[in-house]
Amino acid sequence: MNKVSIIGSGNVGSTTALYLAEKKLADIYLFDVVEGLPRGKALDAEEGAPIRRYDIEIRGTEDFSALTDSDVVVITAGVARRPGMSRDDLLATNSKIMKSVAEKVAQYTPNSIIVVVSNPLDVMAYLALKVTGFALKRVVGMAGILDSTRFRYFIAQKLGISVADTTAIVLGGHGDSMVPLPRYTTVSGIPITELLPRDTIEKLIERTRKGGAEIVSYLKTGSAFYAPAAAVAEMVECIIRDKRRILPCSAYLRGEYGIEGLFVGVPVLLGKNGVEKIIELELTPDEKDALQNSASAVENVIEKLEGLGLL
Ligand code: LAC
Repeated sequence: MNKVSIIGSGNVGSTTALYLAEKKLADIYLFDVVEGLPRGKALDAEEGAPIRRYDIEIRGTEDFSALTDSDVVVITAGVARRPGMSRDDLLATNSKIMKSVAEKVAQYTPNSIIVVVSNPLDVMAYLALKVTGFALKRVVGMAGILDSTRFRYFIAQKLGISVADTTAIVLGGHGDSMVPLPRYTTVSGIPITELLPRDTIEKLIERTRKGGAEIVSYLKTGSAFYAPAAAVAEMVECIIRDKRRILPCSAYLRGEYGIEGLFVGVPVLLGKNGVEKIIELELTPDEKDALQNSASAVENVIEKLEGLGLL
């Protein structure tokens, strides 16, 4: 049986465990430093198994050594933002947590693939890569699928059509400057530029960019978790089953799209080794500028991270 470990048993971690359980892909280890929390959530999820019919194991643990030999480690550890905060405001707190978690992952399960979920996403993925020293393809960030699923949902709602036929590509960092690409966003292969007027598309893009903040403004004490967990489960499934789907994920770029040494959201081919390939799309000058702008925003936060002396 494959093994997936989830670090952080809060809303995103525990919902990811449930979505993964329903996919029956792997045994699941739910980790947290809060005594009892992961064991309570794991046991609760297990007790639903006879009804939901997942016959995998879900274990809760506060002991890092239980993560040994994980195929995939999902890192959700850290705090979520509150109304009025940007994801970047989480840097100081979450980078300390990410550093200690990444060290333990490297120590106990050095051959795993890491899916980073904590915010600020692209910078936390960078930190996880640097701390573990893992191969570039084995550290990947979850954001583009979340941003795309929001965009897809808004498009389907606006057109009064099924979400099933929508696809979307969102490039860039997981922040306010993310770059949804209408040209590459389709309904049954038809670009949305053929189906919706320009100003409507612009409004949907704006709502997508602020999609995380919209949820935070309702929840007040935390951020989204159902859609993020669904996105993580899709990535983990793709890796465990070697599905080789092309999905927007945060990957370490070495010159692709003219970006060097940063994690930024791009379409990647995701398979059993992690990021099997980075797909480079032809971009218009405007799209290129928007992506550069978004990459610069990620770079600015990396500079702040360097200032914290954690690297
Ligand atoms: C969001 C946060 C979790 O986009 O990054 O909802």
